[in-house]
Amino acid sequence: MIQRDGRCTSLWQDSGHSYKPAPLRNVQQYDVIIAGGGITGISTALLLAERGKRCLVLEARELCFGTTGGTTAHINTLLDTPYTTIAKNFGKENAKAVAQSVKEALQLIKSNISRLGIDCGFSEADAYLFAQNDAQDKELEQLLAATKEAGVEADLVNDIPVPIPFTTAMRAKEQAKFHPVKYVFGLARAFEAMGGGIIQQTRVTGVENNDDGVIVETDQGRFAATDLIYATHIPPGVNLLHLRCVPYRSYAMAVQLEDGAYPEDLSYDMEDPYHYYRTQIVKGQPYLIAGGKDHKTGEAENANAHFLQLESHIRKYFPVKEISYKWSSQYFEPADGIPYIGHLPGQQEHIYVATGFGGNGMIYSSVAAILLRDLVCTGIAQYEKLFDPNRLKPVAGFTNFISHNADVVKQFAMKLFTREDLDLLAELAPGEGRVVSYEGDKVAVYKDENGAIQAVSPTCTHLQCDVKWNNAELSWDCPCHGARYDASGKVLNGPASMNLEEVMINKGVEHSKK
Ligand code: FES
Repeated sequence: MIQRDGRCTSLWQDSGHSYKPAPLRNVQQYDVIIAGGGITGISTALLLAERGKRCLVLEARELCFGTTGGTTAHINTLLDTPYTTIAKNFGKENAKAVAQSVKEALQLIKSNISRLGIDCGFSEADAYLFAQNDAQDKELEQLLAATKEAGVEADLVNDIPVPIPFTTAMRAKEQAKFHPVKYVFGLARAFEAMGGGIIQQTRVTGVENNDDGVIVETDQGRFAATDLIYATHIPPGVNLLHLRCVPYRSYAMAVQLEDGAYPEDLSYDMEDPYHYYRTQIVKGQPYLIAGGKDHKTGEAENANAHFLQLESHIRKYFPVKEISYKWSSQYFEPADGIPYIGHLPGQQEHIYVATGFGGNGMIYSSVAAILLRDLVCTGIAQYEKLFDPNRLKPVAGFTNFISHNADVVKQFAMKLFTREDLDLLAELAPGEGRVVSYEGDKVAVYKDENGAIQAVSPTCTHLQCDVKWNNAELSWDCPCHGARYDASGKVLNGPASMNLEEVMINKGVEHSKK
């Protein structure tokens, strides 16, 4: 099974095996190193390889381990940030440019699938947005006007694909859906066939500049390249982008229906957070995929309650035969509504980034691939200014970029803890985790299903906020910039690149660092 950044199993994970890259060729100097083997990294790598660039993808875990393995894979030009907001923040012409950029991205996805023969269950669909009260009716009216003005084909409709009461509804044409992991694996195979290299289980831990570009440090050695692209969902280190991208969790379920009435198209209500619905056939079985109940990362007291709420929402409207999969995943909301793609703020011009895709990672990953390919190959790109990460206003006193392998203070180096004390203090049921105070220190304690206690420092290794327990995915989640760690403190998601400090608790021996 494909591995992912949480305990819950997504529909995509369970439908295939992990990617096995070909042995690496001997290359002394790459043109481009891409950190991150999700849809953004692999899409970009392929486009660069097609332009003759020698590329290497470095993936900290395995391809699609992050949000690509946990998305619900709606491919939209009807975006999460409404065109009304984009027009307000950036002007009407720029709203048209955003709509055009995502249209071109959809064309790229379609062309990749057809020319490379990728079997990923792709199909075109319409997207329906429906209102359920007067206030939403008014909002929908404005949204429809702004969507059409931006250049997305849309109209009012009298019917929607899901059996949910509504007052008014609009339809946007030319949207799509697919199996995201199969798509990315297909791109990766094509990339490798063109001479590209992929190394998994290799985390980028630092970068040095030199005359020829960059030296990329990893836990498996150093690699030289002219350019480096961070396609890691959020870049590591400490960057202005961490102050401008807010991490959220979203919850999803893949269910089988009693009546077999699976909706072909994509649907969205207008609640905040909104619910989303679509169908995908995997291994011959159709699944209704429904999601919602989003919250900021690290802010849910009981993440499992979000699954319960989602389940009761789905059961209210659909005759559920079986809930086959349930999982959650992470996304980053950009402060002003559109992604940050281009030169990484505060860094030399050879380092690029793509982040802040909100809930539209499937389409913006291809916007990023096209834009970054053109920037790297020619120094200019059509939507460079629109998505420029440097459009952000500097924050007074903020140091632009701090290297991501900076040492973290070891808080437990000289202290002793006992299992009995921590167990007593935390009063945990098997499978539970909690941050507790113990002799003047905070300790993050987890009891596994067999009753064994694990303890780590709750201090996030990124910028030292306290992590919180996520009882749905059995992870320690940081509310500040979205870093996540497994129950033993190992990094699941950046921007942190170092594990939580381990606390040795058995027999009261000294604490060690990882
Ligand atoms: Fe930045 Fe934790 S992710 S402090």
